[in-house]
Formats: sequence, structure tokens, C-alpha cells
Amino acid sequence: MNELLPPEEQSRLQREKMVFPPCHEFRTKDVEDVFLLLDVDPASIEPQLIEIMQYLGSHSETMNDEKRARAIAGVIELHCNRTDSSNRLSEEGWRHVNLASTFSDVGKVGPEQGLVDINNYLITALYARRGDISPFTTLSEFIEESFPEHRVQVLQKILYIPGLSFEMTMRSFWDMHAQWTLDHLKDSGVSKEIVLTAAAHHLLEGDGANPLLDGVSIVDKATGILRGFGIERSIDQREIWVILIDKYEANRTRNKASHEESIIWLREYLEKNQTLAALPILKKLFFSCLDDIDAARPLDDFGSSKEESLAAK
Ligand SMILES: [Fe+2]
Ligand SMILES: [Fe+2]
Repeated sequence: MNELLPPEEQSRLQREKMVFPPCHEFRTKDVEDVFLLLDVDPASIEPQLIEIMQYLGSHSETMNDEKRARAIAGVIELHCNRTDSSNRLSEEGWRHVNLASTFSDVGKVGPEQGLVDINNYLITALYARRGDISPFTTLSEFIEESFPEHRVQVLQKILYIPGLSFEMTMRSFWDMHAQWTLDHLKDSGVSKEIVLTAAAHHLLEGDGANPLLDGVSIVDKATGILRGFGIERSIDQREIWVILIDKYEANRTRNKASHEESIIWLREYLEKNQTLAALPILKKLFFSCLDDIDAARPLDDFGSSKEESLAAK
């Protein structure tokens, strides 16, 4: 038994179960439909990945974020084809982008541990909290604020999840999902090329968001090489599109920014980024893709009222 709590508190906690009600209707069939849409036979995918995606779809915004990411990719594809952009991809290339975007955040369900259980439900709930959260807040402070009625139970569970600690910052906690994405995908039946792109979707962030495969980080930040599963190649537009679309989508919908505001934010972000500072050719490629997003104006119906009100000023 747990020695951290008095016996009466322990039995109270055992009676009181933490429940995480779904916020969307998202069924196994909906996951299978996403696979079919992307030309993947759902039967070729490990059932646990389907279970995870179903859980994230019903208990968080993750699958909706990825649906919007695919819609954005569709607009950019049309734009690149129309303008014959140097960043255009083949049909297979866009399928790669769409699949990697769809899988990029499966790690928000927490660690791969053989089965999906309360630890995963808890981590999903922590990632699903949106709003103004400082990246410097510690995980324990965040839990005390977010789950005041279950804080002791949550804190106790956190203690036993590998890699987590009370003192870690929210920045480090959020960074962990990239590794968990890789862990969930690596033996899931998803093509290894797509696994690498999905797991590398936070390569512009710190080392904590650069997953390890067999002890080696999948992105070599000194050279801009993506590696793993016997694959070794330069980062190209497929990774860049996944990254930029992820950030653009988050700005437009989560942060409710207009198209112009999102582009300004992204330009500043790329300009200041430490990883890109050491990789000038890659940096140029990022900016060139961002120019295409700017010209394509995806999700233009989102936040239009805000744009109109800004224009009216
Ligand atoms: Fe992510
Ligand atoms: Fe994301």
C-alpha cells in the first residue's frame, strides 16, 4: 500500500474513481475512416494505435487538429501546383505529409506501456487542458490548479510514470509527447519513413522534443539529417510542411490569430530559432514554404470576423 497517505485517505481515494468523460463522439470506425481516406488498410495497423487514436479523438481536440491540418495541406497543395512552387510535392509526398500530421500527436496519450490504462487517460487529460499556461509552471503546480478535487490521486500516479517528475516544467512535459509518439508508432504498422517525419515534428524545439531511437536522436541538429530504422536523409519539405502546418493551425484555431498574425508570428519564430540558426540552407527552405502558406491563405474562413474587425480599425 501507499505509505504517503493516512489509511482513511487511502480508502477514500479507492472509492472515488477519477473519471474522464469524452468531449467528442469519435468511434473506432471514425479512426478507420481516416486510415481509408489516407489510403491505408486499417487491418495493417496495430489495434493499440487505433485504440489510442479513438481515445484521443473522443477525449481531446487532437484528432480535430489533425483534420484541420489535412485541410490546410490540401489548400497548400493546390496553391503549389497552381503556381508551380519549388516546394510542391508529388501526390505521394502530400500523402506522406497528411499521414505524418495525422500521427504526429498520438504521443499526447502518454507513454507506450503495453496497454492503454489510467496513466494514459490522465496524461491525455493534462495535454487536453488549453488556455494560458506558462511553460515555466511546474507539473505539480499545474496539476494542483487543474485537478483540485483529485490532486493527490493525480500526483501519486504521476510519480510512477517514467520520465515525469513534480518539478519538471510544463515545457519539458509538453516536449515529451514527441518521444511518446515515436514509441507508439515504431512497431505500429505505419511506414517507417512516416514514423520519422511524425516523430520529428518538434525538431525546431529543444533537445527534449527530439526523440531517441536506440539511444540516438532522430534529428542530427548539426547537419539537418533525419535518421532511424536504417534511413538517413536530409530534412526536406515533407518535414517542413508538417511542422509549419501544425504551428499555423495552432495559431489560427487555438490562439484565434488571423492569417496575418499567424504569418508574422511564424516569421519571428523561424528568425529566432536556434536550430535553424545553425542550418542556413534549411532555414531558407522553411521561409520559402512559409511564403507559400502566406500566399495560399489556408483556413481563410477561420477568424475572419477578427480580421474584419482589425481591418475596420
Ligand atoms: Fe506535437
Ligand atoms: Fe500538433
